[in-house]
Amino acid sequence: RAMESSKPSITTVQQHILAEQRKYSPAASGSFSWLLSGITLATKMTESRVRRAGLLEVAGAAGAINVQGEAQQILDVYADQALIHCLGVRENVAVIASEENEEAIMFDGRSGEGKYVVVFDPLDGSSNIDVNVSVGTIFSILSMPKDLPKDADPREAVLQPGVKQIAAGYVVYGSSTILVYTTGHGVHGFTLDPSVGAYVLSHENIRMPTSGTYYSSNDGYWESFPQPYRDFITDLRSGVHGQSYALRYIGSLVADFHRTLLKGGIFLYPPTEKNPDGKLRLLYEANPIAFIAEQAGGIASDGMQRVMDIQPEEIHQRTPFIVGGPLEMAAFSQAMEATV
Ligand code: AHG
Ligand code: MN
Ligand code: MN
Ligand code: MN
Repeated sequence: RAMESSKPSITTVQQHILAEQRKYSPAASGSFSWLLSGITLATKMTESRVRRAGLLEVAGAAGAINVQGEAQQILDVYADQALIHCLGVRENVAVIASEENEEAIMFDGRSGEGKYVVVFDPLDGSSNIDVNVSVGTIFSILSMPKDLPKDADPREAVLQPGVKQIAAGYVVYGSSTILVYTTGHGVHGFTLDPSVGAYVLSHENIRMPTSGTYYSSNDGYWESFPQPYRDFITDLRSGVHGQSYALRYIGSLVADFHRTLLKGGIFLYPPTEKNPDGKLRLLYEANPIAFIAEQAGGIASDGMQRVMDIQPEEIHQRTPFIVGGPLEMAAFSQAMEATV
């Protein structure tokens, strides 16, 4: 609507982040927004290929197995390379880590002036690419630790708990392309307007509803969910917690979470036999989503504690991940306490 009116008044994500920086950290030199522009550029490069996956030979497997033991998709590799390139030319980024790279990468000679660490899942929901279902990109931004020795292993800069994040966000390549981010001052959504190639403010100050009508979990693993999870989900279905919840599950974390953020409800990826520590990765899936959820009034847990309190030991470590609105998460923690 803003674009169609005679007086075009749009707020792009660059304008929004600069205004936030001026408001909350007046000393900011704009270097954070320079960093964010690297991420948004990479997502636009990825978006242009997601939209033509079937035509550009970017669908399908790349032929390699990544550190996760997954068959890397061509788009996984493309999105990863796009982010490494765009962040590599931003001199204020010292270290990056990605789902698709076993080790963290310190850009040459950056240990001094590099201020930021960026951790990302370049293409989330890869198994959905070939069947034209929403996929995404997830990113988490940390400060470079000041006291790190020059020759330290870059992984030390990455292994920080979620509470240390200075910003987090995701892009959902869905029916439209939406960027959602927080710098700790609320959650804001921007829709990519292809006619101008900019992310335009469309969802200011998103708040997660106190309760919803959907739960989201892969009930195909029902037999291997721990009993307290099965009891909790049975209660959701039968209306013990107010109304009977329907199941919506897309299989791309960003899409399942985006629905939970806007509509409320709860998303659960419990421990399973196949993934006893959960499947989702703490650093570049659970933590950034948890930061956004908390900033929108939601709660994110690993089944026992606040996800953002976990001190990471490994870059690719996994965690059970339960995230949702206040009502469902209160009921969930009661269900978990009842078992100890
Ligand atoms: P990725 O494609 O980045 O490896 O992530 C896939 C994740 C996440 O997007 C989703 O929530 C989960 O895998 C789905 O797992 P299941 O297929 O086991 O339900
Ligand atoms: Mn993922
Ligand atoms: Mn991924
Ligand atoms: Mn993957």
